[in-house]
Formats: sequence, C-alpha cells, structure tokens
Amino acid sequence: MDYGRFFITTPIYYANEIPHIGHAYTTIAADIISRYWKKRGAETFFLTGLDEHGLKIAQAAQKNKKDPQKFVDEMAIKYKADWSFLNIDYDNFVRTTDKYHVDFVQKFIQKLYDNGEIYKDKYSGLYCIGCEEYKLPEELGRGLICPLHKTKCQMVEEDIYFFRLSKYQKQLIEIMQSKKMIIEPESRWNEVFRFLSKEPLKDLAITRSKVEWGIPVPWDKEQTIYVWVDALLNYITGSRGLWPPTLQLMAKDIFRFHAIIWPALLLATGYELPEKIFIHGFMTVNGQKMSKSLGNVIDPIEISKVYGVDALRYFLFREIPFGQDGDFSLDRFEKRYRADLANDLGNLFQRVLVMKDKFKIKWEYKIPQKIFHEINQAMEDLRFSDGLNLIWAMITEANQQIEMARPWELAESNPKKLQNLITSLLDSLSEISNLVAPFMPETARKMINQLKTDKIEPLFPRKK
Ligand code: MSP
Repeated sequence: MDYGRFFITTPIYYANEIPHIGHAYTTIAADIISRYWKKRGAETFFLTGLDEHGLKIAQAAQKNKKDPQKFVDEMAIKYKADWSFLNIDYDNFVRTTDKYHVDFVQKFIQKLYDNGEIYKDKYSGLYCIGCEEYKLPEELGRGLICPLHKTKCQMVEEDIYFFRLSKYQKQLIEIMQSKKMIIEPESRWNEVFRFLSKEPLKDLAITRSKVEWGIPVPWDKEQTIYVWVDALLNYITGSRGLWPPTLQLMAKDIFRFHAIIWPALLLATGYELPEKIFIHGFMTVNGQKMSKSLGNVIDPIEISKVYGVDALRYFLFREIPFGQDGDFSLDRFEKRYRADLANDLGNLFQRVLVMKDKFKIKWEYKIPQKIFHEINQAMEDLRFSDGLNLIWAMITEANQQIEMARPWELAESNPKKLQNLITSLLDSLSEISNLVAPFMPETARKMINQLKTDKIEPLFPRKK
C-alpha cells in the first residue's frame, strides 16, 4: 500500500430508494478509513455517488409520477443531505447523469468497440430488474423468482452488443494469483478464484435495446449502455485523475461485478487495476434481511436523531467485525450506548474533568503525538472492532487507575501524586480523543474543546 495517497470508493447506490442503514454502513466505513489516513498524513480522496440510470430507476420515477431526471435530482439531494447529517466527509459525489460522466462512458465504450472487444448478437434470457442482471434458470427459485429480490424474472429477447468477457478468463486468473488486484477477505478471494477456475466465463451483454433511461450507445442510438457498465465507470469519472483507487469497498451482493467484470473492462482498455477490493458482510435487522415488505428497514437518520450520529458510527464498527455478516438490534445498540459510551468513555471523561477543576490541576492540551502500533495495524487491516477494543482497553485502564488511586483521599495525603495521576489521565484522554476521531469525529471535537476550555458537558447524555 502506498501511504502517500489513499483513494477510497464506495459503490454508487441505486437512486430508487433512500439510504438505509446498509448503505450507511459502507459509506461510514469509507469515511472512517479516509479520516484515519488523512490523520496519518496521506493525501486522501474519498469518492461516493449515485447510480441513476436503468429500468429500476425509471420505474421508480414512474411510480412517483415524476420525470426520471427530476426524480434522481431529488434523490441526489436526499443522499447528500443524509451523508452530511452522518458526518460523511466525501471529496466527490458522482452522479451517473452528470455530463462529464456520460461523455466518458460513451468514449469508453466506443474505445472497446473500436478495439474489437464488442460484437452484436441475439440474446434471450431471464432478467431480474432488481439486480439489473440476466439470470440463469438454476440461479432462480421456483416460479423463476430472484432469491435476492423475491420478484419474478422476465423473459427478455433482444438484439444487443456483447463485450468479450470470456477472452479475459486466463488473465483474470493470473491477476488473482499474482495479487495484482488484492481481493479481501481471503474467503472471497477463494470464492472468485474457484469460480474463475471452474466456470467458463460468458461474454457480457453490454447494451440494452429496451431500456430508454440510460446512456445511448454512440454508434447505435437505438440502444443504451448496460447500467452496470455505466455505473462501474463512475470510479474513473469521479476520480479526478487520481486513478487507480487504493481501496474499493462493497458488500458481498455485488462483489462479482467488481472482481470479474470490472477488472476485465479495465484490462480491455489499458487502465490500471485497483490496488484492493474489500468485501464486507451483510447486515440483518434482528436476524432478518431488511426489506420494505417486512417493514424492518432501519433509517440511519432516525436512529442518529435519538442517540447521536457518533453512537451509530461507533456501534456499527464495534459490534460487527468488518468483513463478517452482522446484525443490527436496537437492544444491543442501547446496551453499548449505555455501557461503552455513556459509562466507560463518558463517565471517565467527566470524572477527570471534574477532578481537574476541583483540585485545580495545571495542565494544558497538547496535540497528541504517541504512536499506537497495534491500533494502527488494526486500522490498516480494516479490523475496526479490534481497533476499538484496543482503544476501549485504554479507557478501562484509566477508569481502573482512578478507582485504585482513590483521588479524594490522595488530595489529603499526597497532592503531588494526585497531580501526576490527573495529568496522566488528561494526557490519556487527549490520546483517546485522537484515536476515536475517525469513528466519532464530533465526539472527538467536543472532547478536545472541553479539554481546552474547562467547560464540562456530558458526551453521551443518558436516554430515558
Ligand atoms: N448501484 C449498484 C452498485 C454500483 S457500484 C458501481 C448497487 N446499489 S445498491 O444501492 O444496491 O447498493 C449495494 C451496496 O449497498 C452493497 O454492496 C453495500 O455496500 C451496501 N448495502 C446495502 N444493503 C446492505 C446491507 N444490508 N448490509 C451491508 N451493506 C449493504 O448495488
């Protein structure tokens, strides 16, 4: 990994629905990583955005009785507002209806065409609109139901263009073996590798004849470019010349697009490959898949309004080891809020500030300098819950120190020792504020402010 620069991406989310906690999960992860590397002095660039073309979006617009462009314009406003509420500090937000994106996508596909990477053929197959993808009958449940979207796939026949994906099979296997593009966690690498070694790749239907809401194919205006190709290219159009990315994040639902189709498109046009793609797990709610029909979709904004944005950002990455599936339960959230945030961190902070005030301790805030190798290693490996565990071990230790030293007795018996104890606790709190900052930027800011000004207010107020 090149520490001088750090370019990170999230998937661009479909503009047909407003962000839920699953979208927030990836986006907050990217934000944490970007903030962390910025602190370490890297030149960071954090890219996210919105996937605005395709049948699914057109249908959603129609359902809302809106022109598709107007519909996605409003969704973009909503996404940006939510990300700003969640303190997501992205550097660029790509929209696939942006002109610079559209122009580039057309040039890109024209280049593929000119290079002989594209040919025309008939296609008939079962299409899942939810996935925006043709499915094989064996991938579907009874009644041709898509297992992911629980909707029936449609038989579609069209005369369209294909990208010679099959040609890249050997090369893809090679880049996987040589780790020219790293795929993590290893279990996902294995999965892709096994797939590529066993299944012959089929060429990819790269245009659509019946989808109007898309980018026109430059040499055949009757057709539009397949929304997945359009969407993947956001990573280049949004990159402001910083290609290639250091790290691309996504969940397992879309990792095959990113591990197979994506590198093949880059190989076909001579672009460098991303350094790493990381596939995190899927989040369920109280053990169930989130879905509108179950009515269990969690809105990250609503939760944050009750508990604070930082509590949510903390919970997600303390509770679920990054890379594994995990569950969101309000019960667990409340427990962690009380125990880890209000008690461990909040009380410690307050106790120390009160003592500083009470015993008139002379201490001045200095920018923390210490290097915590183990925590750094955890952050570099994207083991956020390990990182947070280590930070919380420091918090626990500080709390124990106070209990053992009995400061109120020391005030009488050994004021010098008391002075040293509180000074060292204040130093630890400065370090802790710095360490939690990527996860909880607002809390870190409040902590520093209070350490500087002697103003005391609870970091995590008790909930009724
Ligand atoms: N538009 C495509 C991506 C194109 S990227 C070139 C898409 N959009 S999506 O809105 O469906 O977003 C999928 C992504 O959202 C997942 O890969 C993941 O990053 C995030 N998540 C959505 N639901 C999630 C969970 N329940 N759990 C964890 N992450 C989830 O696919």
